[in-house]
Amino acid sequence: MKEAKPRVYFATKNRGKFLEAARVADSFKISLKHLKFEKQEIQAWNLTEIASHAAFQAAKVTNKNVVAEDAGFFVRALNGFPGPYSSYVFKTLGLEGILRLMRNVGNREAYFQAAVAYCKPSHRPVCFTGIVKGRVARHKRGTQGFGYDPIFIPSGGDERTFAEMGTDEKNLNSHRAKAFARFCRWFLGRSHGVSSETS
Ligand code: IMP
Repeated sequence: MKEAKPRVYFATKNRGKFLEAARVADSFKISLKHLKFEKQEIQAWNLTEIASHAAFQAAKVTNKNVVAEDAGFFVRALNGFPGPYSSYVFKTLGLEGILRLMRNVGNREAYFQAAVAYCKPSHRPVCFTGIVKGRVARHKRGTQGFGYDPIFIPSGGDERTFAEMGTDEKNLNSHRAKAFARFCRWFLGRSHGVSSETS
């Protein structure tokens, strides 16, 4: 008889995030289900805190085992801005606004970070993080992905932005794929006493 895959719900309104995470989970034989749930954002400087709070709330309201994620885009020359405010800045300044702020800036180093929190109803959340380093492009390039993807060039690649790659290629080294892979390893091994990992 075929063994049922363990199931976890990903509470997110962002379909792009869900598709990326589902591919990672699938490679670990975990079935990730999309729970279209508005993430409750607390005002905090820490992605881990935001993701943990969101997972706790989603598990409480839905009575399911859930993961929630919070991600941010951190630009070195802007002292880490927009960071945890990435969502708000994306909607207000937009990519053009970030490119304008970076117009005469030589150091274009930036990174994405994702925090993935898993929570069972009435339990404490457990959190996993992932980072991908790179730099801010001079212009928007590409039509795939979402958010800041058109202006982010990951290090060690061939100069294409994330938006010029398909999901599988972005997943080879994205912040989200790393955080979800850490969660999946922990999730599968937790009955053997494996503890959480972060980076
Ligand atoms: P949140 O985690 O949904 O709050 O995301 C914060 C902001 O960062 C949103 O504007 C997202 O579109 C953006 N963002 C999160 N992850 C990614 C990514 O993988 N690529 C590009 N933008 C992202």
